[in-house]
Amino acid sequence: MQLENRTVIVTGGAAGIGGAISRVLVRRGAKVVAVDIDAQAGAELETELGDDVAFIQADVGLWETAELAVDAAVRRFGGLSGLVNNAHASRQAAFADLTQEMWDLSFSTGFVATRNFMLAAHPHLAESGGSVVNFGSGAALVGQPTQAAYAAAKEAVRGLSRVVANEWAQEDIRVNVVCPMAMTAGVSEWSKAAPELYQQSLAKVPLGRFGDPETDVAPIVAFLLSDDAKYMTGQTLMADGGANKLY
Ligand SMILES: NC(=O)c1ccc[n+]([C@@H]2O[C@H](COP(=O)([O-])OP(=O)(O)OC[C@H]3O[C@@H](n4cnc5c(N)ncnc54)[C@H](O)[C@@H]3O)[C@@H](O)[C@H]2O)c1
Repeated sequence: MQLENRTVIVTGGAAGIGGAISRVLVRRGAKVVAVDIDAQAGAELETELGDDVAFIQADVGLWETAELAVDAAVRRFGGLSGLVNNAHASRQAAFADLTQEMWDLSFSTGFVATRNFMLAAHPHLAESGGSVVNFGSGAALVGQPTQAAYAAAKEAVRGLSRVVANEWAQEDIRVNVVCPMAMTAGVSEWSKAAPELYQQSLAKVPLGRFGDPETDVAPIVAFLLSDDAKYMTGQTLMADGGANKLY
């Protein structure tokens, strides 16, 4: 049990990588506040995890949602020691074709939500010497075409994370970033719709497969939330089978 007596907010925590993170954190002893817009996935998560999870159905892009989640952690579980900013919705289009609506969606759910949840959680993270895990992407690191709105928000998250890691270190709060590559339902659909692009992506992964959300990505997030990572902050960890390297 790596995470006993920890309460962690997981945004987008009902499905995909976030759902896997919620499940793995609970298995390792944590209580989880999962925030997600998908009510059905949230209900399934609650049925599966019982009293160890509190589900909040809301849009992460709104400030009230961050306040609601922090309040739920404190009232239901007595405090807050971890925050995983996993949710991010975006649309793909060539840079010149991106609409204001597409930019707003990516920045509100990716960057603004990450900033808001960090600010709302800060007083409680300072009490507990907490850990924040934010989400970046290999697509942003390499500048994948059609991903301008997504990549810009992801790199804004990484820049913010490095600054806040330095500022909050004196309060013993750590802030790190994970860039995953995982076979979620969305990636699975895409692999069937665009098999050639999928094979091209796969060919770039030295370990030869897309990761499993539960066994390949969530354990790295759990590690960053745990005391095993207590001397690590401001870092980006690639949970991507070796597809991209940071030097
Ligand atoms: N899957 C990959 O290979 C991959 C690669 C690079 C980066 N990422 C990043 O990892 C994270 C998780 O990816 P994923 O593939 O599981 O994504 P996903 O789209 O499958 O799941 C995201 C979850 O967030 C929820 N969500 C979406 N919009 C929301 C909103 N406005 N408010 C609340 N919840 C909302 C969804 O309902 C879903 O449960 C994201 O930050 C993504 O950018 C994923």
